[in-house]
Amino acid sequence: MHQFDTAAALRAARCRWPEPVVLVPTMGALHDGHRALVAEARRAAGDGGTVVVSIFINPLQFDRREDLDRYPRDLEADLASCRALGVDAVFTPAAGDFYAPDHSTTVRESLLTTHLCGATRPGHFDGVCTVVLKLFQGVAPTHAIFGKKDYQQLAVIRRMVRDLSLPVEILGGETVREPDGLALSSRNRYLDKDQREQAGALSAALLAGKYAAAGGAEAALDAARAVLDEVPALEVDYLQVRDPMLGPAPAEGQARLLVAARLGRTRLIDNIAIDVGASAGIDGHPRVGNDQNHELPWRN
Ligand code: PAJ
Repeated sequence: MHQFDTAAALRAARCRWPEPVVLVPTMGALHDGHRALVAEARRAAGDGGTVVVSIFINPLQFDRREDLDRYPRDLEADLASCRALGVDAVFTPAAGDFYAPDHSTTVRESLLTTHLCGATRPGHFDGVCTVVLKLFQGVAPTHAIFGKKDYQQLAVIRRMVRDLSLPVEILGGETVREPDGLALSSRNRYLDKDQREQAGALSAALLAGKYAAAGGAEAALDAARAVLDEVPALEVDYLQVRDPMLGPAPAEGQARLLVAARLGRTRLIDNIAIDVGASAGIDGHPRVGNDQNHELPWRN
């Protein structure tokens, strides 16, 4: 496994890499969710292709300095994980090196970022788009994989790729969860014992919403809200139904139920595929198909 600290060194090596070249952008502190994306990247690249993982805590996407300072860092463990998963190259730029001290250009997607997380985290997605475009420029991947756990991020990146005609195919990876349903996240380690228990309400609420979605988007929201209301410590930022591209909620068909909530100082997000207005299947369970099958592991 090769490690590159600068974009220049990486670019010099890139021309020798066999395609497909599949990039997994991360901010490190790798957990099983990241590792599942890397395994998926390995499958997509095949034995003959190249898997690249970038590990870079992007200062541009943090709205609070305090968040950036306390973000977990464990490079040695991350490199060991990558090696074990058969990663070919790791890109670990230093912030001072990756951004010029007086950098003044950012990339902004201006439609999908106005709501959901974009509403309360101004500038966050500009930071994400800017760093992802810079990573694409450095690595020149044929494919890049992002988790559906950060569904809005995935949608915004797909939009940027389309709008700027970037020659890269974006793949979406399924969300990996704890046994009680909590989506894995680097931020889960900030939760104390009580908060960790309370955090299970997020995925439970999504599941309740999914089961109620046959009655329409409002019914899904009501069912999810009822579960969230049982945990007063949860400060809900948003709970919304959107269409799969994050447009307005459809009256019927495939949709996404998304939630963000704060437990103390820790902000958690999650989402699930739902089928609005769909008739119930066997035993009153919603019909499952496509990626929905992968999204019910904690209750199967
Ligand atoms: P980070 O939070 O490190 O996440 C890296 C990738 O892992 C993202 O695509 C994210 O959606 C995915 N991921 C996180 N938790 C997951 C889970 N439980 N299951 C499956 N995938 C999961 O997202 C970022 O970094 C940054 O914004 C980045 C894209 C690297 C740009 O800086």
